Amino acid sequence: MSDIKTTICEKVSEYVASKGASLTSEECAALLETPSDSKLGDLALPCFKLSRVLRSRPDGIASELAEFFGNAEGLDKIEAVGGYLNFFFGSAKYIADLQKLLKDEYPELHAFGEGKTIVLDFSSPNIAKRFHLGHLGTTVIGNAVRNIYKACGYKTVALNYLGDWGTQNGKQIVAYKKWSSREQLERDGIKELERIYVMFGKEAEKDPSLNDQARAAFRELENGNEEYLEIWRLFKDISMREYTATYKRLGIEFDVWDGESLYTDKMPAIVDELREKELLKIDNGASIVDLSEWKMPPALILKSDGSTLYPTRDIAAANYRYNTYKFDKCAYVTSAGQSLHFAQWFKVTEMMGKEWSKDLVHIPYGTMSFGGEKLASRTGNIILLNDVFDEAVAKARAIIEEKNVAHENKDEISEAVGIGAVVFSALANGRIKDTNFTWEGTLSFEGNTGPYVQYTYARAASVLRRGEYNGDIGSYAPVAEETELIRKLSEFSETVLRAANDYEPSYISRFALSVCTAYNQFYHNCRILGSGGEIEQFRLALTAATRNILGRCLDILGMKRTEAI
Ligand code: ARG
Repeated sequence: MSDIKTTICEKVSEYVASKGASLTSEECAALLETPSDSKLGDLALPCFKLSRVLRSRPDGIASELAEFFGNAEGLDKIEAVGGYLNFFFGSAKYIADLQKLLKDEYPELHAFGEGKTIVLDFSSPNIAKRFHLGHLGTTVIGNAVRNIYKACGYKTVALNYLGDWGTQNGKQIVAYKKWSSREQLERDGIKELERIYVMFGKEAEKDPSLNDQARAAFRELENGNEEYLEIWRLFKDISMREYTATYKRLGIEFDVWDGESLYTDKMPAIVDELREKELLKIDNGASIVDLSEWKMPPALILKSDGSTLYPTRDIAAANYRYNTYKFDKCAYVTSAGQSLHFAQWFKVTEMMGKEWSKDLVHIPYGTMSFGGEKLASRTGNIILLNDVFDEAVAKARAIIEEKNVAHENKDEISEAVGIGAVVFSALANGRIKDTNFTWEGTLSFEGNTGPYVQYTYARAASVLRRGEYNGDIGSYAPVAEETELIRKLSEFSETVLRAANDYEPSYISRFALSVCTAYNQFYHNCRILGSGGEIEQFRLALTAATRNILGRCLDILGMKRTEAI
């Protein structure tokens, strides 16, 4: 609790006691609200919440309390309005808050995550296919959640659980042997892999025996057939090259690339354990874990031919991750379509008595689409992610050129703004909501968009380049736009903590937007450069604090800081 809040709570508690009732300081703190409009003060006590303890009317309590407070230290003014008691902080409180912001250190965040580890499984594409719009959510939400936890002092392990082990890899091998060659692969890369995979699908419709061949090819892989393994490694290398280039554009780095193939030899022990704990049931020859008690369909562990399944591998992988990283949390970012899968195998680990089961978290998100929008390079039903980025960058460039500012590095800025715009759009709504992209809603420099945030950041950076800030903010008494901005900026830590608790990057994107609005109000209504003396220093300091906080928000969201636009 801040000093001023403590003073208020103690005083209220004293008042309640004088009436023969009781309310602790902590209970009072829970009642205090921050008015949405600063004209109503900096803190408010809704007195109707005291009505019952004190057995009197809220407006009476409010005016009596106002009198009881008298001239409390650190407060400019106390007003009883209706059933509310509104507290107005003096400028000393704002100066102190600004000074704290200028330090740009957030020990309260570090205290949250100190010594803890979170493993984050995100992006995790299935190899041999290019990224499409469906991969955007897991990739950028996963990265933002990782950055949120990093900001909270957690040790983070960003893990790419590449889908590199399954019947589809058998299909790719069969298709490659029939219709492709190393030369073709080396020439066309992942496009060639896609071509032959699509071809396999078409041919298998005519000749279903191809599917048997694919299963046999996968079994060969599992049995360690060196020729097949070599082809598979080539597929994997080509895919990783492609993915790494996209991650580079997004500024995302993974700590570990542990694909599904890594866990093959770790599954038998899990299957044995399930059997020993008498959790396996045989159903039509397959081995399952019955989850009817939790109103879920059974978790499939082994097919009737003895081969393992997606849940089996996830259980083995989680067990391995716990042993390797001793995580405090292990989170998985996937579309909401996989929610049942995660609920099922999480439950199985609980039934196995794994102590870490309670630390598994699924982070689902809604679908992302480009409804109604024409995308120049749309191929069939698939919207490739790199095409979305290219188009966004081209459009950002056109807007920047229209602004007619002379920049030497237009390419770099357009790339940062175009990609940042798409990333921000994907993080702008509560993650479980479906997102429908429109270019207008994504790229406009004035709307609730990424470019608006980057532009405001650049504006603050440019003011600081032009001003002569010496850090001496004196004891100037801030005006409404300034207190509003300080209030907003001071919400940074609690916003990050809430975002961590709810795995919700949109708290950060919305917070960044509200900081931009507050800064732009201030920028338009208060003269900064040339205002002179203490006022100018104060306003430059406020600009510096804004740049710090917006910069941190951009970093968390996974967008580039744009020093000039
Ligand atoms: N490869 C999967 C897919 O593309 C996502 C993997 C998510 N992570 C996991 N541990 N199951 O749908």
